[in-house]
This record gives sequence, C-alpha cells and structure tokens, in this order.
Amino acid sequence: MEAVDELIRRRLKSDVVLIRQISEYIIGSGGKRLRPALVLLAAGATGYRGHYHHDLAAVVEFIHTATLLHDDVVDESDLRRGRRTANAEFGNAASVLVGDFLYSRAFEMMVDVGSMRVMEVLAEATNTIAEGEVLQLLNAHNATIGENVYLDVVRRKTAKLFEAAAQIGAVLGEAPSELEQGLAAYGRHLGTAFQLIDDVLDYSGDAAETGKNLGDDLNEGKPTLPLIRVIQHGSRSDAALVRRAIEEGGREGFESVLSAIRNTDALAYSRACAGEEARRACEALGGMDNSKYKQSLLELTRFAVERAY
Ligand code: IPE
Ligand code: IPE
Ligand code: MG
Ligand code: MG
Repeated sequence: MEAVDELIRRRLKSDVVLIRQISEYIIGSGGKRLRPALVLLAAGATGYRGHYHHDLAAVVEFIHTATLLHDDVVDESDLRRGRRTANAEFGNAASVLVGDFLYSRAFEMMVDVGSMRVMEVLAEATNTIAEGEVLQLLNAHNATIGENVYLDVVRRKTAKLFEAAAQIGAVLGEAPSELEQGLAAYGRHLGTAFQLIDDVLDYSGDAAETGKNLGDDLNEGKPTLPLIRVIQHGSRSDAALVRRAIEEGGREGFESVLSAIRNTDALAYSRACAGEEARRACEALGGMDNSKYKQSLLELTRFAVERAY
C-alpha cells in the first residue's frame, strides 16, 4: 500500500497548478484506500508476482476519487475525510473538472498496463458508476422507491467498483475463470454491504469518525434503505413523516426522521441486510485456496459491516 501511495502521488503530476492543488487536497486528506487494497489482495490471492498491481490499485483509487469529487458537488456536501470538501473549498466547477482529470489520468495509466481485459472491466465499471449516479438523481425526492430499485442504484454506484477492483486483481493473476468470477462476486457483495452501512451511518454515525456530515442523504431527498424500511414497516404517522421528508429534502426534518427511524427496526434491518451481503461475499470465496490474502479478504467483510468510519 505504501508503494501504491507513492505511485498515486507521482501520477498526480500536472503543470496546471490547480489540478495538483485539488487532487493533493483530496487524496492527501486520507481515505481508507479499500478499493486499492482489494486489487492487491486479489492479485496476491491468485499468485500474481509482477508489479502492475500497484498501478491498477492507483488507477482504481483515482476513479474512486473522481467519483467523490463529482458526488460531493451533486450532493452539495461540505465535509469529507474530516475536511471541507473540494467543492466547498475550491468551488463546483474546479471540482468537476479535476474529477475529469483524475478519470482521464486513470485511463492513461491503465493503457500503460496494456491488458485489454483489464481495460474492458474498468471501462464498463466506470460507465456503470455513472449510470448509478444518474439513476440516483432520478430517484431523489421519490418516496415510492422500493428496496429493489434502491439496491440497483447501490450495485451500480458503489458495488461495481469493488467488483472491478477484485476482478482485475484476478485478471493480473491469470486466475481460472471460476476464481475470477468468485472474486468479482465477492467484490460485488462486499461493495453492497459497504454502501448499506454508509447509508446507516448517514443517520447514526459520528461525524468525527466518518469525516462526513450526517443528514446529507436526507438533505438530498435520497430514499435510502433505513427510510424505505420506515415507509414500509413503520406506523402510519412515521411513514407519512418520512415520505414527506424525502419529498421535501433539506435538513430541518432530520431529528423527527431520526425518531421515526428509531421507532422501527430500520437500522437493525439495514445492518442485517449488510450482514447477509457480507456472508455472500465470504461464500463467493469458497473455492479459493487458503492464504493470508484470503484471510484479509474475509476480514474485510466484517469491517464493512461493523465499521464506524
Ligand atoms: C465513500 O467511500 C463513498 C461510498 C461508496 C460510500 P469510502 O468510504 O471508501 O471513502 P474513503 O475513500 O474511505 O474516504
Ligand atoms: C456513494 O454514495 C457515492 C459514490 C459511489 C461516488 P454517497 O453519496 O452515499 O457517498 P458519500 O456518503 O457522499 O461518501
Ligand atoms: Mg455523497
Ligand atoms: Mg453516504
């Protein structure tokens, strides 16, 4: 991971000062680096012995960072990784454009690796993420969204990059198709669990730990799983309150929505769904030989569900 970080810094170079400023601002403020870790672990688990896994890990983190820059503009968020977001600090236009720079730098770097299969997987993943974010935009302020539509967005906007990260590690390791598909499925389920918990933390987390503001989802009128659960299983008045809060958006309703959530099993239910996805992620590694890499992949499923940040 140190080698990946070093590569990330080296590849942020541009003679356009604002690009360096903004990309170093967001990348230097930390982040869990989970997706690059998946590339390294999947490559290790499939016996890869070269050095391109570092490049692809950096590529995946660049794609992730680009989505965060864009996502914070769309979500009008002002806190990320414990700091003001890039859009709050440098403005929306600069954030969007530097996000584009990171996407295109990622594509330059993956071309250097020279694997058509890797390029296919990452090109498709990037396209799917964009679809997920647009679908989510279409669903905003819609209180009739059910679990399936919600999960479709989660799989596209978040799980797809986890899936691609694990899969390209396996492609580097020239894993047999079954193992490659197993790692891809692992990433898909892990990523789904990860976003389910992200959506739980948006109501129940601690901003000092997540580094993000609570209530961003409600502000944007996002029908996430905790709210869908209240609408479907809460009392009539709680359900009506949450429907109205989704339709109107904003932060004023946060406390009353929170009590509606607490009146039901919404958070426990969402956590249980994440737990089920984590179980399926582990199951997808069933056919894989044991190794320290596999153990770390299994441990990550627990982190995805139990995390507070
Ligand atoms: C944030 O991802 C975006 C989601 C998919 C929820 P992370 O929680 O992995 O963000 P960093 O990179 O650690 O900041
Ligand atoms: C994940 O959704 C966004 C991306 C996949 C880019 P969120 O909007 O919930 O992510 P955060 O909470 O802002 O990190
Ligand atoms: Mg967001
Ligand atoms: Mg979130």
